[in-house]
Amino acid sequence: MGMKTHMQLLSAGVVLVLFTTSVQCCPSVCQCTTRNFQTSVDCSRKNLLTVPATIPYNTTELDLSHNYVQDLTYVFQNQNNNSEFLGLENLEILKLSNNSISSITESVFTKLSMLRELDLSDNNIEEMNDKTFKETQNLTHLNLSGNKNLDLTNNTFRTLNIIGLFGSQ
Ligand SMILES: *[C@@H]1O[C@H](CO)[C@@H](O)[C@H](O)[C@H]1NC(C)=O
Ligand SMILES: *[C@@H]1O[C@H](CO)[C@@H](O)[C@H](O)[C@H]1NC(C)=O
Ligand SMILES: *[C@@H]1O[C@H](CO)[C@@H](O)[C@H](O)[C@H]1NC(C)=O
Ligand SMILES: *[C@@H]1O[C@H](CO)[C@@H](O)[C@H](O)[C@H]1NC(C)=O
Ligand SMILES: *[C@@H]1O[C@H](CO)[C@@H](O)[C@H](O)[C@H]1NC(C)=O
Ligand SMILES: *[C@@H]1O[C@H](CO)[C@@H](O)[C@H](O)[C@H]1NC(C)=O
Repeated sequence: MGMKTHMQLLSAGVVLVLFTTSVQCCPSVCQCTTRNFQTSVDCSRKNLLTVPATIPYNTTELDLSHNYVQDLTYVFQNQNNNSEFLGLENLEILKLSNNSISSITESVFTKLSMLRELDLSDNNIEEMNDKTFKETQNLTHLNLSGNKNLDLTNNTFRTLNIIGLFGSQ
């Protein structure tokens, strides 16, 4: 969505549409592509410290690999009270490899009910709560390799149907 479109909408006074449109704008540092009704957002290798706030809500694949993101709590929760933020209820693939994530709270992925693949490799995650993946019933690929201090001895994932748990070494 370019500036021109915004101006046209503004002058037409379509405030609601403008609002919806701006929520769906691609973050300026990222690249967004839509093909066959799948919207991919690539924000990898952008020196990001946080997840950009305006990821289009219909995104199906989000790549945040190779950044410096520490905290996900803020972003992936239900954001009813801040519509700029993400429900991302269509998200199927989330790549967070090689960031600085050290903790994963139990509510962080609960709104991502379509999530199939989650790459958390090469972070500093030390523990995970049992309830973290309770709502992500479609999750089949979880990559946790390269989290050196992650202790999975009390198997957090036993209730899940995960076929690709690529563990820490
Ligand atoms: C998702 O939003 C983008 C940006 O507004 C749009 O270009 C794309 O067509 C949308 N994709 C779907 C599947 O609705
Ligand atoms: C991890 O991310 C940093 C920052 O973007 C980058 O410099 C480094 O090359 C990445 N490491 C790998 C193995 O890709
Ligand atoms: C927004 O909602 C979250 C979760 O429901 C809540 O923790 C947070 O305090 C709310 N923030 C504001 C500014 O109301
Ligand atoms: C899992 O994905 C299917 C489509 O592949 C969808 O119909 C279903 O609602 C998803 N499960 C959950 C818990 O959202
Ligand atoms: C898991 O992540 C590591 C590090 O990013 C990568 O080398 C490996 O290929 C991944 N495994 C799978 C099965 O995707
Ligand atoms: C695993 O469970 C045992 C027994 O409940 C507990 O003592 C221990 O601290 C747990 N380890 C981790 C890493 O949570």
